[in-house]
Amino acid sequence: MNDLKKANALTKPMEAIKGFSKLSKSAKVEWVCSHFEDPEQAYNVLGIYWNEDVSLQKLHDEFIENTITNYYLPFGVAPNFLIDNRMYCVPMAIEESSVVAAAAKAATFWMTRGGFKTRIISTTKVGHVHFAYWGDYEKLLNFFNSRVKELLFKESESLTKNMRARGGGIKDILLINKTYEEENYYQLMCSFETCDSMGANFINSCLEQFSRTFRREIENSDLFTDREKELQIIMCILSNYTPECLVRAEVSCKVEELEDEKKEYTWQEFIDKFEKAVHIARIEPYRATTHNKGIMNGIDSVVIATGNDFRAVEACAHTYASRSGQYRSLTDVKVENGVFTFWIDVPLSLGTVGGITSLHPMVRFAMEMLGKPNASQLMGITAVVGLAQNFQALRSLVTSGIQKGHMKMHLLNILNQLEATEEERKVIVKYFETDTVSHSKVIELFCELRGVNSLEEIKK
Ligand code: MEV
Repeated sequence: MNDLKKANALTKPMEAIKGFSKLSKSAKVEWVCSHFEDPEQAYNVLGIYWNEDVSLQKLHDEFIENTITNYYLPFGVAPNFLIDNRMYCVPMAIEESSVVAAAAKAATFWMTRGGFKTRIISTTKVGHVHFAYWGDYEKLLNFFNSRVKELLFKESESLTKNMRARGGGIKDILLINKTYEEENYYQLMCSFETCDSMGANFINSCLEQFSRTFRREIENSDLFTDREKELQIIMCILSNYTPECLVRAEVSCKVEELEDEKKEYTWQEFIDKFEKAVHIARIEPYRATTHNKGIMNGIDSVVIATGNDFRAVEACAHTYASRSGQYRSLTDVKVENGVFTFWIDVPLSLGTVGGITSLHPMVRFAMEMLGKPNASQLMGITAVVGLAQNFQALRSLVTSGIQKGHMKMHLLNILNQLEATEEERKVIVKYFETDTVSHSKVIELFCELRGVNSLEEIKK
C-alpha cells in the first residue's frame, strides 16, 4: 500500500495513438504505464483494483471501452429511513465524508416524527425528432394529424409491443413549430411511459423509427413541393429534461417537535432561521446552487448505488430548478397552523430494470436491500434522501454551523493523509470529541505525538 502512495510522475506526454481501442487490455495498460517514471509502480496501482474473479472483472471491463482497471467508491448505508410507513436502510455510493452520516442523522430525526411521505406526481418521459422544413406549416400540420400520427404509432408497434404489455408505450406525438426561435425548425415532441425502465434505448429506437416513417410519408405525398420534400431530419434523441417525471417527498411535524434536545436553541429560533435559509435559496442563485448541491449529494449517491444515470438526473434537476427563469432551491418550507412542512419536488427519471441494474452485483445488492422497488418507489426513496440531506445541512447551517460535522468526518481523511498509526489516531480522535476539528490543529497534535516541530521534519 505504501508503495502505491509514492509519487509517480508522468515522464513523457501522452502522445496520440491510433487504434488504441483495438489493443488488448494488457497492451493498453502497458502503454499507459510506460509513460510514468516508474511503470511497474503504475502497473501495481492499476492492478490492485483488478478483481481476482475473472468473470466479474470481464463484466466490468465490458461496461465501457478501454477499461484499464476499476474505480472504487465507498458503498455506505443510511438506516432508519421511515418512508410511507415502511423502514428502509438506504444504499449510498459516494466519496464525500459527511454525506451518509448526515442522511442517517436526518432519517433518525424524522423516524420519530412520522417519517417521510412520498407522492409520484407523474412519470412521463419525452423525446424529440428535431427537423428542418422549408414550407407551409399549416399544410404540414394537417398532413401530420390526418395521416402521419397514426402511422407513427402503427409502424413502431413491434418496438413498443413489450412495453405496451407492461402498461407503457407511446403516450402522444405532437408537431411543434419552433420557427419563432430558429428559422425552419420543427419538432415531433413525443411522450412515453417507460414503466420500470429508464427507457433511453426504447425512446431513442422509437424516435428513429418515427423519423423514417415521417420522412417517407412526406416524400411520397403529392401534397408537398420538391422543396418541402427536402425535409431534413436533424436528430432523434430523448430529452433528459423530464419535468413530468416528478416526485414529491415531504416531512411534517408539530412546530414544538423541532425543539433542540440539548436546549441550545428554541423551536421558534430554529424555524425562523430555517425558513429564512430556504427563502434565501429560492431568491439567491449563489446560495441555491450550494443548497441544491447538498440535495444532489443525497440523490446522486442513491442513483449511483442503484445503477442509474446520475448525469441525467443532475442535468434534469438543475434545468427544473431554473424553470421559472431563475435558478432556485428544489426544496420549500411552510409553517401553517402549528405544523412545519418541508418538501422537495424533483424530476427523477430512474429505472429498476434494464441498464446495468441486473448486471452489476452491487446494484443487485442495493435493489435487494431496498426490497426490490419499482421505478416509482425508487423515485420516492431517492427524493427522500435528497430532502433528508438538505434538512440536515440546513439544520447544521442555522445552528452549530456546517464545519463541526464536516471536519469530524474529514478527520479520518486527514489522518490517512498523514499516515497516522492506530495509536496516534486514537489519541487525536479522542481529543476532537470535545473540540472542533481544524486541519492545523490536527497537524499540531500529530507533530506533538511524533515529537517534531513540523511535518517537514517527519518527511526528512
Ligand atoms: C456540501 O457538500 C453540501 C452543503 O454545502 C450543502 C448546503 O450548504 O446546503 C453542506
